Amino acid sequence: MDTRLPATPISPAPAAAAPPVPLYPLKLNINGQQRQLHVEAWVSLLDLLRERLALTGTKKGCDHGQCGACTVLVDGKRINSCLTLALMQEGRSITTVEGMADGAALHPLQQAFIAHDAFQCGYCTPGQLCSAMGLIAEGQADTRAQVRELMSGNVCRCGAYPQIVAALADVMQLPDETQDGPATAPVGMVPA
Ligand code: FES
Ligand code: FES
Repeated sequence: MDTRLPATPISPAPAAAAPPVPLYPLKLNINGQQRQLHVEAWVSLLDLLRERLALTGTKKGCDHGQCGACTVLVDGKRINSCLTLALMQEGRSITTVEGMADGAALHPLQQAFIAHDAFQCGYCTPGQLCSAMGLIAEGQADTRAQVRELMSGNVCRCGAYPQIVAALADVMQLPDETQDGPATAPVGMVPA
């Protein structure tokens, strides 16, 4: 006689509920507006701006600190927003390209970029503009060659480098290129 019990179907154990993802409070001033946010620990400043706050002017190029497309100003200093966690900027003031113009009046750098045709596709332009603001605030560039060097972290795949330098030189009222002497790096080349 077969004494085995009839097989009973084994129902899978109920999946354990995933623990809630912790959110941390974050206070930022973004383009002059005070924001109270809650974010996960791993969110970069770039993703916070683009994905959570819809400030898509700031661009994601490499997401690895190599191209400068994500440049914004933090307390007036230019940084690659892909390389910093949003939570690390607690209490700071962030300026993105959306915060440059004064209402309908463009920032002088924006006007100069238009006047000098300093972009083609425009993908790098928000980062170039923020980087240019930071560079001017740093006060380290007295010649066009120095502008080229100090803007070399902002890559332009369209090769608008001569026009970008001309736009900055215009705003900074730098002397003509011919008075600068040899450049430390050819236009379009990003030093290693
Ligand atoms: S996206 Fe940040 S440096 Fe390229
Ligand atoms: S204008 Fe196209 S990447 Fe700079």
